[in-house]
Amino acid sequence: MRMKTLLASAVLVLSACSPTTEKTVIQYMPHMSNTPVLKSQRGYDGLGNGASVMVPPEHTIARGHRPYRIETVDEAAAKLTNPLPHDKVTIARGQKIYNIYCIACHGPRGHGDGPVVNPFPIPKSLQSEDMLKWKDGHIFHVITKGQGVMPSYAQQIQEEDRWAVIHYVRVLQRADHPTDEDLRELKKMSSK
Ligand code: HEC
Repeated sequence: MRMKTLLASAVLVLSACSPTTEKTVIQYMPHMSNTPVLKSQRGYDGLGNGASVMVPPEHTIARGHRPYRIETVDEAAAKLTNPLPHDKVTIARGQKIYNIYCIACHGPRGHGDGPVVNPFPIPKSLQSEDMLKWKDGHIFHVITKGQGVMPSYAQQIQEEDRWAVIHYVRVLQRADHPTDEDLRELKKMSSK
């Protein structure tokens, strides 16, 4: 009896790996391996709109998102203020975002010397006299809407993180343009 059971299991195992077909004969939970795969941007009639991704229904807003209706940098500079405090936690968060999304073009200190520059066009320095005077809202608008060849980062970087990265850009600017007090502090620190 035991022999028969053994034989039966051997047949079962062998028939499961037939050399003539790539399909497994016995599939455990087949719906896991046979899920319908939708290739992106190929068009698909399953969703009724030819898309392979769901698009939000008209006149709806995703949770946690606010529509951005500001059109110009001047309007942004006048209406928007940075809601985050200029503290260690925010700056560290901003640094992380900068090093992921901005450094490739703008370089580690904002001089426009990131690794992809040339062939990518050299960005204007984030340390320019003009930019030192810009309000945070102006920078926010550039990150949100893009400017010239710089694309919008609204899809990749959440609103709060865009404000955090601005705090970090301010840190980079202050490091390149220290105040007299900063220099006195530095002297004190280095003489210790
Ligand atoms: C793909 C390269 C690229 C990336 C990544 C990028 N930028 Fe830019 N950025 C540019 C270029 C190029 C310009 C100049 C655009 C123009 O005016 O034609 C620019 C311009 C700017 C300006 C305006 C400077 C001025 O004086 O007009 C700001 C501010 C800025 N970028 C901030 C950022 C921040 C913050 C990030 C990260 C969230 C970022 N950029 C990511 C390429 C990039």
